[in-house]
This record gives sequence, structure tokens and C-alpha cells, in this order.
Amino acid sequence: MGDALMTSSLLRGKFFAFFAQRGCALVPPAPLVPENDPSALFVSAGMQPLVPYLLGEPHPAGRRLVNAQRCVRTDDIELVGDAAHLTFFEMLGNWSLGDYFRAEMIPWSWEFLTSPEWLGLDPHRLCVTVFGGDERGPRDEETIALWQAQFARASIVASPGDRIFPMGRGENWWGPVGASGPCGPDTEMFYDTGRPRCSARCRPNCGCGKYVEVWNDVFMEYEQASDGSIRPLAQRNVDTGMGVERTVAALNCLPSVFDGDMFAPLMACLAGLSRHQGPEQQVSARIVADHVRAAAHLIADGVVASNAEQGYVVRRLVRRAVRHGRLLGLPPGCWQPLITAVAATHPALHGKAAAIAEHLGEEQTRFEQTLERGLRHFERLAAKRFTRSDGISTLGGEDAFELFATYGFPLEMTAELARERGLRVDREEFQRAFAQHQQRSRQGVEARFAGGLADRSEPALRYHTATHLLHAALRQVLGPHVEQRGSHINAQRLRFDFSHPARLSPAQLQDVERRVNEAIARDLEVRWEEMDAEQARRSGAIGLFPERYGAPLRVYAICAADAGPTEVTFSREVCGGPHVSHTGALGTFRILREQSAGSGVRRIRAVLQ
Ligand code: ALA
Repeated sequence: MGDALMTSSLLRGKFFAFFAQRGCALVPPAPLVPENDPSALFVSAGMQPLVPYLLGEPHPAGRRLVNAQRCVRTDDIELVGDAAHLTFFEMLGNWSLGDYFRAEMIPWSWEFLTSPEWLGLDPHRLCVTVFGGDERGPRDEETIALWQAQFARASIVASPGDRIFPMGRGENWWGPVGASGPCGPDTEMFYDTGRPRCSARCRPNCGCGKYVEVWNDVFMEYEQASDGSIRPLAQRNVDTGMGVERTVAALNCLPSVFDGDMFAPLMACLAGLSRHQGPEQQVSARIVADHVRAAAHLIADGVVASNAEQGYVVRRLVRRAVRHGRLLGLPPGCWQPLITAVAATHPALHGKAAAIAEHLGEEQTRFEQTLERGLRHFERLAAKRFTRSDGISTLGGEDAFELFATYGFPLEMTAELARERGLRVDREEFQRAFAQHQQRSRQGVEARFAGGLADRSEPALRYHTATHLLHAALRQVLGPHVEQRGSHINAQRLRFDFSHPARLSPAQLQDVERRVNEAIARDLEVRWEEMDAEQARRSGAIGLFPERYGAPLRVYAICAADAGPTEVTFSREVCGGPHVSHTGALGTFRILREQSAGSGVRRIRAVLQ
């Protein structure tokens, strides 16, 4: 390459211009969350939104396309921190929908990479991989011959094993993104960074980093069915992908993707904020940079942090970023400048910085609050390490689940912490604990539905609110060991089961009844607010907590409308609602009967009159 610095926007511009000259129409990128495709969480390659057209549907922009597609790949999230892996990246691509094929695409690839008008790479520093064939398909001889002809243009004699490396299906076969779809052999182009060979066997894909992949041409001439069988497509397509960040790093001989212009503002901002900046912090800085950037793009495209699917990925990214932010010594709540720096790096984020900052900031702050205590708890659990019969030091899966349920530690984060201490997490035990918990939680939710949510009539709402008052009064009279074990409500009566070891005395029953009726007479206000499980527990809320950490919970409080900060709230309970707005609507509360409902469980039946 010449001396001029290759920036991401220069690279994009050159790619678009080159393919515009070859009749490709510039098409807009698709959103990161696939539209109408439940088989994939994210768009992970430029071809994904084009699958219907690769299978034969006519594209409105024609048969030759080019674009820059934002992508998210989460398979390698644990590898982020090295020189090349990113969860979010941008991919330049061009497509032939049943138009040009190998004979055009390989000479064009050579021209774009080596011509001084385009990227001007030294041909001596290029090498390629091709599909080497296996029992399911032959070696891609046509591609080998086409590459040999290109190298010959620069008077380089290339042959299989020398600059042209035939490899297996794992390296050089592009399979369908979901269970079925277009597929075919590919050929990848690598740039030699000039670093020393790692061994005599050093070659592309060996993993040492000497050869950096800059482009991939897929020749999509087949369709794979969900049973794995393959048939030729009616039209032969080309799908190519050039990762912008990696290519910019390679062309500028930068040590990593984090040294390119797309990361510069973010890395500078991080360097300014970090209290610890030794070489051992480099990985953490890269992780924070990648994860904040990926989360920002996902949020910009409408993903909200949650415990499921796309939202869970945002949550994982944010939590890992927060933890590594601690290793960097970032001041708490310092995310605003980082997000401003990220927002400046890509047009898709322009004008969205405030909204991203708000969402990301809330998610980060929420996790920062529990992280410290969670880490202390982790250390205690890690000290309990045990050695399995195969000699592997292990952190119990139930312990990992506890960290997940109580402190919101994603399993992957616990595994990473464990790895840092030479421990493995028992993932199977974690999954078992998780499944058991889900089952219990479903039962809890069902019990709660039976307890009043199903019937939303006004009389049922009154009984629902009365149940909260009864629960609170029982704890006041009997003690905090009282916990709900079940409840059933209809428009005529309530039934409430709770833990208590002995029959209630008549005096206790009268006391409970009197307290409920006093609360009704005071016409207390019933209001709710949303908070996470941790805040709910800290606020003293009782009730059946749904088990998945992090989803906002509704906490109903029953207290005087003008209650000051010191006034005691009569009841505070996690509940889906609905309720009446004031206890005055309840009338008079009367306990009909108190009886046993199993070992250590009592049952009260009561009515409103
Ligand atoms: N779809 C191909 C890739 O992502 C081009 O590498």
C-alpha cells in the first residue's frame, strides 16, 4: 500500500466505487435484529438479509449489489481482547444474484487488492485459501486455476501448498446461517503482516496472527435443506465479505483492530479515564471498548437489556464491560463520556447518543451496585473449590447459579472469573439448578395467578388487596418467618396459606383481624413501582419473587397517601397486580376459619363484608 493512511471511510468509499464501476447498486444496510427471521438473533453477515434473493426472488435493485452491513457475532465473545476478535463489526460486501461468478470475481478481487488505484497491496504479501475437497464435494480446482493466473500477472508462481492453501470444510465452506439455506465453497484472502513465522507449519488460519484475513468470496451455487442434503441452486451467486476493522488494521500494519480509526476516540477516552494502565490491562480495555460499542449499536437498533434472547446479549455485554471497567479502575458511573466517544464513531449512532447513554447507563449502574458484593461472594464460593475425580478444580454449578440468581452474574462471567483462578465451572449442574428453579418459578407464578390475577372483577381486586393486608398483619403479629405458601381468591372470599408451626390462638386471630380493619379504616393508598429484584429485597418487599434476575419487578406498597419518609409502610409486596387504589374500598374484613394446610403450613379463610 502507498503511504496514505487507510481509514475506514476511505476503504468503504473505494469498495463502493470499485463495484459501482462494475454495475453493482449500493443497497442500504439492514437493522442488526433480523426482520422476519426468528432463526437468528442478529445479522452476522451481509448475505443474511439477502437470503430470499440468493434463493431466486428478484431484488428490486437488480442482480449486482454492494453495501456495508453492520454485524454482530457472539460466538467468539470470549475471545474478544485479542488483536482480531470483535462482537460488532462492519462488513463490506458485493453480490451477484445469478450474474457474475468465479471467472469475474477472482480477477476483480485481485485487482481491488493489488491495483495502485485501489488498495495497492504488495502481491508478494498475499496468499489465499480454497476448498480442498472431502467425501461430500471435490476440491475447488477452478478457483485454484483462477488464482494461479492472478499471481502469474505479478510473476509469482503459486501452487497448492504455496500461496494457495487448500483447506477443509471447516475453513472454506460457507454453510447456511440457520438450519437451511444457500451455501457453497469459499476462498479467503490473507495479508502477510510481515511478522516472523510461528513455526515451519505457519500458514493462514494457523492462529499466530502473521496472516490476517481481509476478504472472503463465497460461490453460492448450492442450497442445503434442513436434513443436511445439498442440491444445486437454479442461479449461481457470489457473496463476498470484507471486515472493515480487520482490513483497516491489516492495511496500516496496526498491531490490532483496536488501533484503527474506528476505535481511536473510544480508546483515547478509556486511556484518559483508567486509573490502571499496565500491559495487563490491555485486554480489559479492549473488552470494554468492544462491548460498549456493540451494546450501543444494539440499543440504537431498538434492543433493550433483558434476560432473554437479544436483550440478554446486551446484558452480558454490559456486565462484562462493567467488570473489566473495574479492572481498569474506571470511576463508577463514567459511562457517559465513553458512550459519547462511541457515538462519534459511526453514522448509525449519530443523534442517538442521549438515548443510548440513558439505557446503557441505567443498566451499568444497576449492575455496579451488586457487582462489588457479588465479587466478594464469588471469592467465598471459589474458596470452597473442590477437585473432581479427574483432577479438575471446580466451582459448583449451584454456586454459579446462586451468583446468577442473586447478583446477576451471567454464567459466562462466572466462568471467566473462575478461569482466572484456575477453576472450571460445572455447567451441567448450573443448567440443572436453572431448570429446577424455572420449574419452581412457574409453579409460583401459577399459584399467584390462581390467587387473583385471573379474575379482574372489582370484588376480586378487593380480596386481592385484602390478601396483602392479611399477609402483612400476620407477619406483624406472628413474626417474619411467615411466608406465603399459596392463595386463592374469588369474588366471594379469600384463602391464604402461610408458613407457621402452630395453631393461631383466638387472641392472635383477633389481633390480625383488627390490624387489617385498621388499615382499611385509614383508607391507605395502594401504589406500585418497578425495580429489580435486588432493590425490591432491599426495600423490604415480601412475596413470591420471580426467579429470573434482572427483569423489573412490580412492588405494591400500601401506606398512607401522605406518608413521610419515616412512616412505616403497612405492606410492601412483590406482585403483578392489579389492586384497588385505596383500602377504604374493602369494607370489613372477617376471618372465618383458621386450620392446618400441611406440615408447618396454616390456612386462613376470610371474607369482606
Ligand atoms: N458471507 C461471507 C462471510 O461472512 C462472505 O465471510
